[in-house]
Amino acid sequence: MSTFDAAPTALIVHAHPEPQSFSTAQMATAAQALRDAGYRVDVLDLYSEAWAPTLAREEFAPVEGHFKPQAEQQRAVKDGTLDATVRDHLDRLLAADLLVLSFPLWWFSLPAILKGWVDRVFVMGAVFGGDHGLFGDAALAGKRAMLLFTTGGSSESFQRGGTLGSMDDFLFHIHRGMLEFVGYQVLDPVVTYGPAHLTDQERATALDAVRESVALAAADARPAVR
Ligand SMILES: Cc1cc2nc3c(=O)[nH]c(=O)nc-3n(C[C@H](O)[C@H](O)[C@H](O)COP(=O)(O)O)c2cc1C
Repeated sequence: MSTFDAAPTALIVHAHPEPQSFSTAQMATAAQALRDAGYRVDVLDLYSEAWAPTLAREEFAPVEGHFKPQAEQQRAVKDGTLDATVRDHLDRLLAADLLVLSFPLWWFSLPAILKGWVDRVFVMGAVFGGDHGLFGDAALAGKRAMLLFTTGGSSESFQRGGTLGSMDDFLFHIHRGMLEFVGYQVLDPVVTYGPAHLTDQERATALDAVRESVALAAADARPAVR
């Protein structure tokens, strides 16, 4: 963001295979709440883009012998040979003041398509490592990130001592291992528990709660004037 362009940017990376799902409605609600809060919103819908989630040697310049993914990422950044789609997504990531990962909780984690987005777009040498350090020294330091997700389990089941265990424990590998690792300050997640069990009226109320939480997070996340 430049001094002359005051609107902060939010990048929402959305991973749900069904446009009619609650997760997708939740993402659209969050996007509108961010626009209402003055954000320019960029939505990357991984399923509709048919994003290929596997980090493979074929996306790099030919490698003789042992393929080391992070070494190739660094080399591709230096040589300007990153895969064109990865480069596009990386540029959109670097341009965003706020990153929102939007998904249904699958196996207590990100759906594979979204995990693969992190594998390929959190490029070593561009967002961490190389000329950048880790955590506070990584390229995305000073920016905010937030998880926006749905679950099958109830909120009670995710309490400490609940049948599924503490949500904070499940989120640690994403919050610390992915987002803080590349420099983000992590905001509180926005979660809708068990939307499949809600009536239409309850779903509408849940979307209102999402709108409110995202508006609060947006106010919290506004970057300082640069
Ligand atoms: C492959 C897969 C794995 C899942 N793993 C979990 C899980 O670990 N914990 C959980 O609470 N729900 C789990 N669920 C249920 C989804 O989180 C739930 O159906 C979804 O969040 C509901 O939102 P939606 O209607 O937008 O899909 C899983 C569903 C699928 C398809």
